[in-house]
Amino acid sequence: EVQPPLSGRTVVVTAGGTREPLDPVRYLGNRSSGKQGIALAETAAAAGAQVHLIAGIMDVQAPEHIANITVERIETAAQLQAAVQRVAPQADLLIMAAAVADFRPTAYAAQKIKKTEDGENPVITLERNPDILAETVQHRRAEGTGPRVIVGFAAETGSAEADPLELAQAKLLRKGCDLLVLNQVGEALVFGRDETEIHILTSPTLTAPTRSAPDGSAPTLSAADSAVTTRRGTK
Ligand code: C5P
Repeated sequence: EVQPPLSGRTVVVTAGGTREPLDPVRYLGNRSSGKQGIALAETAAAAGAQVHLIAGIMDVQAPEHIANITVERIETAAQLQAAVQRVAPQADLLIMAAAVADFRPTAYAAQKIKKTEDGENPVITLERNPDILAETVQHRRAEGTGPRVIVGFAAETGSAEADPLELAQAKLLRKGCDLLVLNQVGEALVFGRDETEIHILTSPTLTAPTRSAPDGSAPTLSAADSAVTTRRGTK
């Protein structure tokens, strides 16, 4: 009998955006729809994997009732970090599709921030959130444990100085993940749409063995042959 390709594998997918509270009624958020992460979670489940979906803020319904998918809800980057740290050690594959806020308000106001009589504008200061992807890669490097394959995402507009692929190549190296999926954004591209065109960048780390399957066989996930492949299709 032919086993589905990801049978016996555990896949962790993060999806959607994080929401960083400012006061009880306000937050900083982003435009992530969650569609790409959900599509990947469903695809992995259909391929036989046990999937843990860490779901942030999304425009669409999380797949709560699909066999092989468990859904964990998070809102903030700190909650996402705690969830990833808890489940990543047991994962064969980590797909970091979530749009994690890079910054959060330095202070949370327990009471709603009010307009003042003197008309002064409030100043919001921000601090960095942890880079969950980079720290998971570092942890795997230091401890020799963790997901066999770690996939990062990039949403780049490019600039006058650099095209999106160059920026993504640099990000792949900086974060140290095994694969990087580049979504080009801007001019109504990508966010919320049902179709996208992506570039998949592969790192040499993909061929370094770290962990074998429960039955001792080699990992069945294989990289694309070339360093950059372009795929078009429904998410
Ligand atoms: O640096 P940038 O936000 O473009 O990186 C995107 C990738 O890094 C995504 O895979 C995202 O899930 C991850 N990320 C993260 N922690 C952050 C910011 C991004 O894990 N604080």
